[in-house]
Parts: sequence; C-alpha cells; structure tokens
Amino acid sequence: MKSIQISSLAEYKELYQKSVDDPQGFWEEVASHFTWRQKWSHVLKSDFITPDVRWFEGGKFNITENCLDRHIEKNGDTPAILWEGNNPETPSVVLTYKQLLSEVNKCANALKSLGIKKGDRICFYMPMIPQVAVAILACARIGAIHSVVFAGFSANALADRIKDSECKLVICSDYNRRGNKNIPVKEVVDEAIAMGCDSVEKVLVYNATGQSVNWNNDKDIWWENIVPQQNDVCEPEIMDAEDVLFILYTSGSTGKPKGVVHTCGGYMVYTCYTFLNVFQYKPGDVYWCTADVGWITGHSYIIYGPLLSGATSLMFEGVPTYPDSGRFWQVCEKHKVNQFYTAPTAIRALMASGYDEPDKYDLSSLKVIGSVGEPINEEAWNWYYEKIGHKNCPIVDTWWQTETGGILISPLPGITDMKPCFASYPLPGVQPCLVDTNGVELEGNNVEGLLCMKFPWPSILRTTYGDHERCRTTYFSTFNNKYFTGDGARRDEDGRYRIIGRVDDVINVSGHRIGTAEVEDAINQHEHVIESAVVGFPHNIKGQGIYAYVITNGAIGEENAFRKQVLDVVTKEIGPIAKPDAIQIVTQLPKTRSGKIMRRILRKIAEGEFDNFGDTSTLLNPECVEDLKNGALTLN
Ligand code: PRX
Repeated sequence: MKSIQISSLAEYKELYQKSVDDPQGFWEEVASHFTWRQKWSHVLKSDFITPDVRWFEGGKFNITENCLDRHIEKNGDTPAILWEGNNPETPSVVLTYKQLLSEVNKCANALKSLGIKKGDRICFYMPMIPQVAVAILACARIGAIHSVVFAGFSANALADRIKDSECKLVICSDYNRRGNKNIPVKEVVDEAIAMGCDSVEKVLVYNATGQSVNWNNDKDIWWENIVPQQNDVCEPEIMDAEDVLFILYTSGSTGKPKGVVHTCGGYMVYTCYTFLNVFQYKPGDVYWCTADVGWITGHSYIIYGPLLSGATSLMFEGVPTYPDSGRFWQVCEKHKVNQFYTAPTAIRALMASGYDEPDKYDLSSLKVIGSVGEPINEEAWNWYYEKIGHKNCPIVDTWWQTETGGILISPLPGITDMKPCFASYPLPGVQPCLVDTNGVELEGNNVEGLLCMKFPWPSILRTTYGDHERCRTTYFSTFNNKYFTGDGARRDEDGRYRIIGRVDDVINVSGHRIGTAEVEDAINQHEHVIESAVVGFPHNIKGQGIYAYVITNGAIGEENAFRKQVLDVVTKEIGPIAKPDAIQIVTQLPKTRSGKIMRRILRKIAEGEFDNFGDTSTLLNPECVEDLKNGALTLN
C-alpha cells in the first residue's frame, strides 16, 4: 500500500479481500503511514471481537505529533483550521499547521501549569470556536483525557458527566453565539459544579464574547491570563497505543448515558484512514463538516481525521438558518469548499425552508457531499444530489456510531457505486453481518436483520468508563462473538447495506441519540407525574420525534400549562434536544402481566396507526388501548 488512499475499484476489492484474509498484515501496513516513536509489539492480539481487544499495543507515539508536528516541514503554512463565525460579517480565522501547533503547545503548557497530568480527565463545554480544537489537542498532547460535552446539554446532564469521570478541570467559554442568541455557557458550568462536582479544581474560561460572567476567584481562570504567555514548545507526552485518548458520553436504551472510551493508536489509524478514503481528500482541498464538536462526528471528522491527514478543516460557529437558510451555501461559496459533510436533518430543514435557495450560490467547488447520523430519506437524498451536488458529486452516506470511532460503511466516491439511501459497502477492514433475533447469521443477499460486526477494527470502543461489564453486556453479549450495533439493516442483491434504524429503545432525534429511559426519568421528576412512557415517531424534519405518554396524579390543572412544565423539566434534566414533540395525558399504559409496557402499541399510536397491533393477548389491560387511540395527538 503506497498510500492510505484507495484509488480504484480494483484496489478496493483487493484490499477488502486482504483485510479479511490477513487483517494483521492489512492494518500493519496502514499503521506504518504514521509517526511512531516505538513500533508496536502486536498489531492485534485477538482473533474475535471483544472489548478487550488491543491494537498496536506497545506502540509509542503521541497523536498530536501526527496531527501537527509531522506536517510542519512540508505543509506548515497550509491552513489547518479555517474558522467561520456565526455572524457572516465576522472575519474568518485561519490557523496554519505552524500556528495551530504553537497555540496547542501554549495551551498544553498552561494545562501543565494547572497541575494537569497524563490520565487526568478534562471536561469541555465549549462553543464551536478554534480554541476548542486547540484545547482538545493540548489535552491529548500532555496525555490527559478529554470528555467533551455538547454545549446544548443542561447543567444537570453536564454535572452527571463531570462526576462520572471525575474531571479535574472544566474548559468553557463565557457565552456561545448561536444565530441571534447569546447563550450562557459559564453560568451552566457554575450551576453544574454547584451540584456536587467535587473533583473539579479549576475552570478555564475563554472570553469569546466579552459579556460579564460570575467569577469565583478560587476556581476560575481566564484563558487570556494564562495561555497566550506560555512557551510555544511543549514536548508531547509519549503514549502507548492503548492509553485512553478520550471519553464521549452517549445515550443507550437503559439508564444514564455511558462514557464511550477510545484509545490513542487504533483511533488515530482508523480516523485518518477513513477520512482520506471516504472523502477522497486531496492536498489543497477545503473540507467542511458541519457537526458540533460535542458529538463523535466532530471529534473524528472535524479534528482528528482531517488534521491527521494534513487537511484544511473548516469549522463553523453558527447555525444553518442564520442569518438565513442560505448560510451553509454561502460558506461553501466563500471558502470554495470541496467536501461537505452534514446530517439529513439539516438537509431536510433547508430543503423545507427554501427549495431553490442553493441556486443563488456558486457550489461548483464541491466534489463530494456526505451524510451522517440517521437514515436519509429519498426526497432529501435527491434534493441534496441535485441542488447541492448538481448531479456531479457522489453522496457518501456514512454509517457509524460513537462506539465505532469512525465510519464503517460508506460508498467511496468515484470508486464504489452509489444507490440512494444506501450506506452501501463496508470499508476494507470492516466485516459486517446481519443476524436474526436468535443470532443466526443471515447468509446471502436480499436479507434483512440486525446489524453486527464480526471482526474488530482499530477504533472499536474499548470500554464504557468505569463500568467494563456494562460495555460487555450492552454490545458484546447479545450475540455470540459479535458486536451488536443496535441497528436494523437490509442487504440488497449486490451486497449493499441500507440502514433502517434503531431496533432498541433509542430515539434518533435530528441525528442525536436519546434514550427513551432518560427522557422518562426526566419527565417523572415532575411532581404530578406518576409514570411515563416515551417512544419515537417519524418526524418530517427531525427524522424521529419524541412522543410521551404521561400518567398524572390528577392535580395538574390546565393541561397545556402542565405540558409546558413537563418540557421545562426535560430541558432542565437533559437539555432542549430531548423535549417531547407531543405529550399525551393518559390514565393507563398498556402493560403485560409481567408489568412490562408494550411499547409496540405506543409506537403505532404515535405513528397514527390505529390497528395491526400484533399479538396483544398478553396484555393485562387491553381496554386502555381504545382510550389511547381516542386521545392520540395528530402530528406532522
Ligand atoms: O442508528 C444509527 C444512526 O446513528 C446511530 C449512531 O449514533 P451516534 O453514536 O450518535 O453517532 C452518530 C454519528 C456517527 C447509529 O446506530 N446512524 C448513523 N449514521 C447513519 C445512521 N443511520 C442511518 N444511516 C447513516 N448513515
């Protein structure tokens, strides 16, 4: 393999076969394209899939040396981060690889001066500003572990995450500019810390907007007072490939969100490999991923994948609809973006708010356009293909998860074929399969089942923070010797995969995973709520919306005022992204004799389908179904 980048269908096929026949040899070659201070002792120790897998163990290196230092000699003046502000009038900011390295080193030295050491956890609660990338890389440079929390989560949700991983430091900004709003950030951090986050010693605050904030002299430190004056040389901490790089919390079907753990070596190799192949990035291109850095897409495909590849990664502070729904396209035109990567929910929202709006912009620089986070429906796919890609740009419908670290299934633009709404083929190194509910693998094509992986890839999650058993039971014990994704999928007659969606109690709202149990726990905090049940339903823009059935104690007063209070409780407990779209007040929930809620019925009713409930003979209270139907809310 001369380069990590595959350039033809023949090469794809050959490498795919090699990756199955000789996975160690395949990955050894990919890994040889990076800078290691010491070579690994084993490429991979396991020949089956387990969370105890070890990749490139014994290999010593630092991921930031690979993201930054190794590009300096040839590409030091290449823009690494190209930042576009919320307000189109704000001048763009460019950080070349040289400048970024210098900023990262200063920040790393500042972190050291605060007593941060290898293995310490740092929580990030930051807007989309260049400093978030600087600080994340600074953290990795000194071997500290970053835990980035999406800045739309509430103080409660932030506090839970800080406590779970006992973060020593929180890095935040004063405010976050979003559209025409200035959203408090530091205030939320203060609130979270007051909820018993005793591990937090300091809060490092970047002054992004200049607005005043409450200040605690014992804990709070302005970034401006400690970072800029540091030395801009910082020797990277030498890490083992299996040392932890970061924790990222994500929702599951049960209990509180879990901290997915990724380690340095496998994650580095895999994110760079997938970035170069899926986007077919070429030197000089400008690549833009619109995700927030608080999600895995931001980690893998705004920061690590692109920077490991020496690419120019555009980072956008704002929202797609500010100042109007042409903003994405205006930014594409302004920066001559070549690869554009976004979520179906954004595509649907922009399509709805101005079908022909993109025609006003010159989008001829685009070569590849991508989609991630949820299934893309055909209408949105076609609009994206025609209005944005002008039928010249392959759409890469990339399927992956927080747990997988990087893209597992995706077309390779210009190399493999593309079919609307299909994530299509696995990348070389990835071995998906479909199983039935008994775990029996479905052979051949034209089959539908549960999507699993039967062989490890380098960036598979290693554990869930502080609870290895939970990781094992959630992902590795449903089916023998397989990683279970939680998704259903279909394999077509040519072996392409089409992802159907979650088969567990996880709702995918605007590409964000929300556990039904989490929302129910939040709703149940309302003093007049006795019980609740939450399900997803198809939503025109969000993909899935949240439908809540709530049993009250009868003391709620006016119903709409109560509904508003429920929304407030959910906003307080989780954040606005988890607010139900519909709240139906009910007297009973359909339950089986063993007390289990029959969610299938609730899902059907939320979808507006009032029969075909399947077998309801085990229902303890079948009479409630009529009431549920009568009270159903009309949506969309
Ligand atoms: O259901 C799948 C859906 O998003 C889930 C993973 O969510 P998260 O960990 O938040 O990561 C999102 C960004 C990688 C998956 O289990 N999903 C992701 N990509 C696609 C998708 N569903 C259909 N098509 C996709 N391309």
